[in-house]
Amino acid sequence: MAKNQARILIVDDEQHLQMMLKNMLELDGYTCAVASNAEEARAFLKNEHFDLMLCDQKMPGESGIDLIRYVSEEYNDVAVIMVTGEDDRELAETALEIGAYGYVIKPYRLNELLINVSNALQRQRLESEQKRYRKDLEKVVMERTAQLQKTLSGVIQAMSLAVESRDPYTAGHQQRVSALALAISQELGLSREEAAGLHMAGIVHDLGKLSIPAEILSKPTKLTNLEFDLIKCHSDNGYQILKDIEFPRPIARMVLEHHERLDGSGYPQGLTRDHILLESKILAVADVVEAMASHRPYRPALGLELALEEINRNMDVKFDEDAVKACLKLFRENKFSFED
Ligand SMILES: [Fe+2]
Repeated sequence: MAKNQARILIVDDEQHLQMMLKNMLELDGYTCAVASNAEEARAFLKNEHFDLMLCDQKMPGESGIDLIRYVSEEYNDVAVIMVTGEDDRELAETALEIGAYGYVIKPYRLNELLINVSNALQRQRLESEQKRYRKDLEKVVMERTAQLQKTLSGVIQAMSLAVESRDPYTAGHQQRVSALALAISQELGLSREEAAGLHMAGIVHDLGKLSIPAEILSKPTKLTNLEFDLIKCHSDNGYQILKDIEFPRPIARMVLEHHERLDGSGYPQGLTRDHILLESKILAVADVVEAMASHRPYRPALGLELALEEINRNMDVKFDEDAVKACLKLFRENKFSFED
């Protein structure tokens, strides 16, 4: 900023000092306004922009140090220099601590003050530029992050559609499981990132069915043991597809563990309790409820009530107690329903 563009507010209760300072600075090319106390200074700051405030300490009413504190908090783009007759190191340290750029003791030499003014303005300009730069950078990072998230969601949705296109009977299953898992995670107070990760895992939790013959997936009669063993591979198949992708949350592990049960009766690893990720436990509850409530090729829908009874009966046996309670609450209090 050129000198003649810099605006300076002089706050001093001694009129002759005010005028001397004003004349001196204006001769040097600055534009100045004068205030006799903190109240007048606040009024000036409210109505006009200043680059620098030169502030006395002892004035009638509010002290200079309190005015500096106020200006540092409310107008952090205004540089401040304390100009005072008090040769007090402690006061100087306090002034600098709360945001003043300099401390000049009266009587001062003309050049000494002008150098301090020039330095403060230069520092203020650099800090403003840095702030602007940081703000621009933050905006770019936020925009890019949003773009990446959109792309990631698009890819996840495409994966979901790919598996559901081969298995029309379970079309929409993953979306509905995902919606319920998200609602449970919110009911349990999981963080936004954890909930978003779980939502994503829900959308692709049956991805591994891609490698299972479509005839088995849509077989209208009861599956043989061999066919069921093949279907059981889908958790690990899904894990293998996703495990090398760097998601913000352990999506691949949630997919791998969504058929695990607390008592070790699940698959593929027969994991128990604390060995299963909380998100996987939530996904398991959502998966079972949705699957039972919906129509399957080999049986008609069993209904939501039966599904809720099933998870209630197996609470803390097969299914996580908190996840089950949250799920039951969501349905009982009409906070959630499956949408077709
Ligand atoms: Fe599954």
